[in-house]
Amino acid sequence: MSDLPEITPEAVDAAAQAALDAIAEASDSAAIKAVRAAHTAEASPLAKLNSRMREVAPEHKAEFGKLIGQARGRVTQALAAREGVIAEAETAARLEAERVDVTALPSRARVGARHPISLLQEQIADIFVGMGWEIAEGPELEHEWYNFDALNFDADHPARQMQDTFFVDPVERHLVMRTHTSPVQVRSMLEREIPIYVLCPGRVYRTDEFDATHLPVFTQFEGLVIDKNITMAHLKGTLDHAARVLFGPEAKTRFRANFFPFTEPSAELDLWHPTFKGGARWIEWGGCGMINPNVLRAAGIDPEQYSGFAFGMGIERTLMFRSDVQDMRDMAEGDIRFSEQFGMVV
Ligand code: PHE
Repeated sequence: MSDLPEITPEAVDAAAQAALDAIAEASDSAAIKAVRAAHTAEASPLAKLNSRMREVAPEHKAEFGKLIGQARGRVTQALAAREGVIAEAETAARLEAERVDVTALPSRARVGARHPISLLQEQIADIFVGMGWEIAEGPELEHEWYNFDALNFDADHPARQMQDTFFVDPVERHLVMRTHTSPVQVRSMLEREIPIYVLCPGRVYRTDEFDATHLPVFTQFEGLVIDKNITMAHLKGTLDHAARVLFGPEAKTRFRANFFPFTEPSAELDLWHPTFKGGARWIEWGGCGMINPNVLRAAGIDPEQYSGFAFGMGIERTLMFRSDVQDMRDMAEGDIRFSEQFGMVV
């Protein structure tokens, strides 16, 4: 008994104050839990003082009881308040740590964009594949024979100068960067069985300026049909169909007489563009014609038995007036901000 402190107002105050100081100092939930155990449980100074109540004379019991009760009340209140503050702070800290910033830029790699020329080339190919045609390809570094001779360009014929050619060293090898996709006509005739219905999209090269309407490297699509009884009406119907798919139901084509060594008759091909930015109008689209019998013969095909047609158009030009692109150089520079404008579908 005697090791218990004497109940005095000072002793009660001191015990309460010690508890309040400890409470004020506790800064996290572990600390406040320890303070609660030390200052409210059985072994706490206030509890020890309380256990001496039975020694207190009856006339003083109420007075001391009140003193201790109030002290315990203050401690309990301070504890509860501190616990509340600590719990709130810890919750806030946890929420902050776990916060997801929905406005943050994702770290994944930027999605690219397909080039509009690739997209349009595929779309054009789809039109013809949809009619049962096949896609044919040929090399961009081409033998002069395929690019010119087999296409009825005579060695001295001025037509050979129609296209400004990149000749590739050594000249004895007669290699050129193909100036058009027409050599694929010859390759197709030599490699395939008749009937032939092929579309040949691909890159071509000319010593042209690099300006708003010319690129030294550009893309063409060539069509070739060889079959029995093929007439210019088939050519016209095929081109009108392609025009409508690409430019809407009111689009159509017209022919103007022209010359190409590999077609006879030959025509310049115009497109009626019903939704052209500056108003509906005719636009030069490409060249076409009936396969020249000399070309059929060069490819070992009997012109008495078979006939055919071919056409060739530039894809950059097509994209230019279809999507209102003002400057062809935008198509060559590879700036993703240009390509992005076309989305994934042209
Ligand atoms: N190859 C010609 C050019 O590039 C276009 C063309 C293709 C003309 C097929 C007639 C037939 O100018």
